[in-house]
Amino acid sequence: MKAWQVSREWSIDAMELVEQPEPTPGSGQIVVRMRAASVNYRDLLTVEGKGGSYRLPLIPFSDGAGEIAAVGEGVTRVSIGDRVCPMFFQSWFDGRPSASSRRLALGGTRPGVLQEMMVLDAEGVSRIPSTLTFEEAATLPCAALTAWRALFEEAHIRPGDTVLVQGTGGVSIFALQLAKLAGAAVIVTSSSDDKLERAKALGADHTINYRSVADWGKAAAHWAGGGVDHIVEVGGKDTLQQSIEAARVGGTILMIGVLSGFAQQIAIPSLFGKNLHVIGLSVGSRIMFEQMASAMERNHMKPVVDRIVAFDAVPEALKLMQKGGHFGKIVVRFPSS
Ligand SMILES: NC(=O)c1ccc[n+]([C@@H]2O[C@H](COP(=O)([O-])OP(=O)(O)OC[C@H]3O[C@@H](n4cnc5c(N)ncnc54)[C@H](OP(=O)(O)O)[C@@H]3O)[C@@H](O)[C@H]2O)c1
Repeated sequence: MKAWQVSREWSIDAMELVEQPEPTPGSGQIVVRMRAASVNYRDLLTVEGKGGSYRLPLIPFSDGAGEIAAVGEGVTRVSIGDRVCPMFFQSWFDGRPSASSRRLALGGTRPGVLQEMMVLDAEGVSRIPSTLTFEEAATLPCAALTAWRALFEEAHIRPGDTVLVQGTGGVSIFALQLAKLAGAAVIVTSSSDDKLERAKALGADHTINYRSVADWGKAAAHWAGGGVDHIVEVGGKDTLQQSIEAARVGGTILMIGVLSGFAQQIAIPSLFGKNLHVIGLSVGSRIMFEQMASAMERNHMKPVVDRIVAFDAVPEALKLMQKGGHFGKIVVRFPSS
């Protein structure tokens, strides 16, 4: 079988397509025939050596979907033929996050999904909604689950709340769709007026071009009648100050991303003065995935797939993400699909 590997150095251009023996499942394990994967900004950081202290060689990417091709001794939780997504965290099933539940992350501390046949613990997958194709389901484990957890597990949004999402990448577009599902009013920011039009078509109630409106935090607060309830903060360095401006007194900033950089100085009184809830979060548990999948199935919610590229074109897909040319998710189709 084929797999993409970062072999000798951390860079997109050093990625190699390698041949590996097909795995067989041990006791309690399964083998998943992967059909699709999707690109996350985190994969770009990982491949470039900025995402953590991982060891080479590494099979990257956390998000994918496929069908179970073989089960090992003692496996009863899932069966051959089940359509599943491998979970981002292989050891977080339920409850609040802990050091041990976050230890095993695909495409990081564990081999990722860019392999045609993937051996996993039977506990490490979840069934995918019947309403979704493999390509659509491959977008869920990191981007969608992070948006789901941010809004429903951390911010506890309610109908009528206001939500601000930054940019039109994977996490933000899922946050837009899920917030609309919950009856919230959503503000979307983007560098592109064309993308803002597409966001409106998905239900965005208000849009701001963050390139042409430098003070977009104040503009969002004004539109929301004095401050936004929940801010999905994916920009990091260049957006955090504006997010604080945008938030209402007692509002929530969901700290998720670092698109513009990792570190920023902020005035501490702006946090306690506004009584802000600043919540850091990374992805979610298997039970959260199951709840999200069920909500998507019942509401016929479809992930927004910008484009589907061939398995051979993984480096090009990463470069496309680097340029920010996408809206929603970039998906990779496996040769066997
Ligand atoms: N904590 C977690 O568990 C978790 C999970 C998933 C992702 N993340 C992080 O969240 C961030 C987003 O990930 P993603 O996969 O959704 O990324 P993505 O799909 O690559 O998003 C890229 C888009 O973000 C927007 N953007 C870029 N720089 C921006 C800035 N300075 N201000 C506002 N928007 C900006 C751009 O949208 P426009 O083109 O519309 O301007 C760009 O197209 C990344 O930092 C990622 O590492 C964290």
